[in-house]
Amino acid sequence: MSVPKSSHEIRQLFLDYFKERGHEVVPSSSLVPANDPTLLFTNAGMNQFKDVFLGLEKRPYTRATSAQKCMRVSGKHNDLENVGPSPRHHTFFEMLGNFSFGDYFKEEAIEYAWDFLTNVLQLDKNRLWVTIYLDDDEAFEYWTRHVPPERILRFGKEENFWQMGDTGPCGPCSEIHYYWGPIEEMTPEGVNRDDRYLELWNLVFMQYDRALDGTLTPLPKPSIDTGMGLERITSVVQGKTNNYETDLFMPIITRIQTLLGHSDAERDAHIVGYRAIADHIRATTFLIGDGVLPGNSGRNYVLRLIMRRAMRYGKQIGFEKPFMADLAETVIQEYGGHYTELAEKRDFILEVVAQEEDRFRQTLDNGLARLEALLADLEAQGTRVIPGEEAFRLYDTYGFPYDLTRQIAEERGFTIDREGFDRAMAEQRARARAHETFNVDELVERYRTVDLPATQFVGYDYQRLTNVETTILYLVKDGEAVQSAAEGDEVELVLSETPFYAEGGGQVADTGVIETDYGRVLVHDVRRARPNLWVHLGTVVAGAINVGDPAYASIDVDRRWDIMRNHTATHLLHRALRNVLGEHAEQRGSLVAPDYLRFDFVHLQPVTREELQRIEQEVLANIIADEVVDWHYLPLEEALNQGAIALFGEKYGETVRMVSIEDPHTRAWYSRELCGGTHVERTGQIGPFVITSESSISAGVRRIVALTGRKAAAFIRERLNAWDDLAAALNTPSEQLPQRVEKLQAQLREQEKTIADLRRKLAAAQVNELTARVVDVDGIPVLATEVDAPTIEYMRDLADRLREKLPSAVIVLGAIVNEKPMILTTISKDLVERENLHAGNLVKALGAYIGGGGGGRPTMAQAGGRFTEKLSEALANVPEEIRKHRG
Ligand code: ALA
Repeated sequence: MSVPKSSHEIRQLFLDYFKERGHEVVPSSSLVPANDPTLLFTNAGMNQFKDVFLGLEKRPYTRATSAQKCMRVSGKHNDLENVGPSPRHHTFFEMLGNFSFGDYFKEEAIEYAWDFLTNVLQLDKNRLWVTIYLDDDEAFEYWTRHVPPERILRFGKEENFWQMGDTGPCGPCSEIHYYWGPIEEMTPEGVNRDDRYLELWNLVFMQYDRALDGTLTPLPKPSIDTGMGLERITSVVQGKTNNYETDLFMPIITRIQTLLGHSDAERDAHIVGYRAIADHIRATTFLIGDGVLPGNSGRNYVLRLIMRRAMRYGKQIGFEKPFMADLAETVIQEYGGHYTELAEKRDFILEVVAQEEDRFRQTLDNGLARLEALLADLEAQGTRVIPGEEAFRLYDTYGFPYDLTRQIAEERGFTIDREGFDRAMAEQRARARAHETFNVDELVERYRTVDLPATQFVGYDYQRLTNVETTILYLVKDGEAVQSAAEGDEVELVLSETPFYAEGGGQVADTGVIETDYGRVLVHDVRRARPNLWVHLGTVVAGAINVGDPAYASIDVDRRWDIMRNHTATHLLHRALRNVLGEHAEQRGSLVAPDYLRFDFVHLQPVTREELQRIEQEVLANIIADEVVDWHYLPLEEALNQGAIALFGEKYGETVRMVSIEDPHTRAWYSRELCGGTHVERTGQIGPFVITSESSISAGVRRIVALTGRKAAAFIRERLNAWDDLAAALNTPSEQLPQRVEKLQAQLREQEKTIADLRRKLAAAQVNELTARVVDVDGIPVLATEVDAPTIEYMRDLADRLREKLPSAVIVLGAIVNEKPMILTTISKDLVERENLHAGNLVKALGAYIGGGGGGRPTMAQAGGRFTEKLSEALANVPEEIRKHRG
């Protein structure tokens, strides 16, 4: 067998090797972990198998292999700061792995790894080192079959005990290291210390589930989890001592070089920036491909951070124009073959990258302005030290990089209180962490160890929504399990069977009643304590209820039908959105309530009115076609193969419920989603559908609110009535309403003009009267008076006229405009020069009286304030202020 050369070949060879040995080839899961609040990003191949290791989930196979997209930028495994300076660290990387779920254990794992490295990839056996956990004699035994004992080293917890995070599966591990230096310098001391010893492959012998307090509970069965970075193994196979020189990165590096027009020497001089950008653009492209958008919190923030880090490096190495989208294109070309989602979402990815790059440019501009203002303030206060909190605010609120602040500060002779900055940063991190820690739901916690059978949910069956015979299995009052509860008690109830839908997948819970021979409970909410354990929350409104009582459960059926209409409409809307706006318009969240539906989706611009209409029409077309809403259970993989849409960040079991609606024209399926919610039987039952609003909820995510059925009809009726009322009020046939309103508006404009004209005439008449009020202040003619003026323009107009009559004077007019005191000052040029007066300074002083500020040119200035009652005082003090201000 010849040794493969390209990274793509190595990836394929690895998967094939394990496939031939009975492993299921499982596609990489998303970088966004499915429903795992303990994890920000997928950080190892084993993540998607976490529940399988824990024995919580069964799969049809016991051996698997994958090439997994991973990110290590936060939490336990965080490599961000090393990226760039280090030749081997990455934020995004691919992990090759093989897994055994209670199938084979240490011996086979070791045999496979050794065989693959030495026979398939033909690595030099003499350069391979092995590490094992302190007392793992078993692993030692197996390794001695291939490796001389002196090259098997024992290490402690730090190096050779792997855990996914603070909680979850973990176990001792054994690592294979590759030495690439001169063979005569190879010593045991180098392993785990010297850069020339490269940790290549980690074999984890999964044996425990770690709890937050550190307790290790044995897993149901010992298992295997291995991980080998594709970047590293490629570097070894391709004979590079630096991952960035492999074919995984060179196309990006070369593209950067071409865009910059650098010589090789210039490239090498800037290699840290090159590497950081090459790494970050891969992370950026893959993250956006998996639906993450740059933003201000959580994952979105991490993406923004990485992109900004790349852009900063870009500036440093000489990029003056946007470059990220161009490089993202290279990534898509290189990786889109294996990771088809990149190719599919190409346009969307490029647009997100370009927009963010643009936004960052603006951020830099804003930050720069803010920094300038800050430096001026500090200068005025006589200090040349930027407080740490200020530097941090620039960084945190304005997104302005610390290094840039420092650089500019230094240029201007300022320093930064670095300690204060670090402190502010540490506080922020602590806040972020507090935010991130998983908030274990009280209810979930309460039922965790209670032994109860799975709840039988019968509420998909329209015939079984009321009077469902059931039994009360469990009762909780004030957080404690009880045997009975009486009138007035707030209770939690578990039933053997129930028609109540428990809140989930965006759909709200059903409400209704539970009745026994002795009592009656009004149910206002239903939640899942476990995936199949329903807890009904309610109030005992009559009699008493007891554990063991037979009961009848009935939901509010009308309300449920409203909910079902909205749920099915949500599916139709989702499909229509993607058809009209593009496949990127994925669902990001939804609320299916009885009175409306709310749907959040990815889109970078506002949806136009025309698009909204097309979307609405498409939904309606599918409603009036009265299609059957089909649903059934099937294996997840089959559903996905049939094109069902799985939602972002949702976790699905091996068996899923698939809801499909056909296209009335093609008879192919139109909408097909994995969904546990309740739906109408036929789309016609939705009735009218109307979109009532479209808005932005965060960068790149939009929200549509829509109504169906009764609510839609009521909404339409209300609008029509309002229209008729308007027409009646304007005494116009309703179809002529728009023209009538237009005409009224024209009339209004006409009248406003007339009024303005009249006012001007009035002002002219006022002028004569006002000029009589001029007084002499130390030889300066001064007119300071309050006038009746509706707008500041009117005041200006009046001042202009007064100036004509009083060519050499100080004129100060005060007026209450829109309930606010305003002061307008003009000073004739001759006085500005001769008396050294300045209208701006004068008005600033006068503004202080009325609780405001102002300014302007030497000859004309204005001020606004808050205290109307102080206006006359301000005007009375004009002579005084003039005396103060003449130079
Ligand atoms: N899960 C192990 C690791 O990430 C293989 O190193």
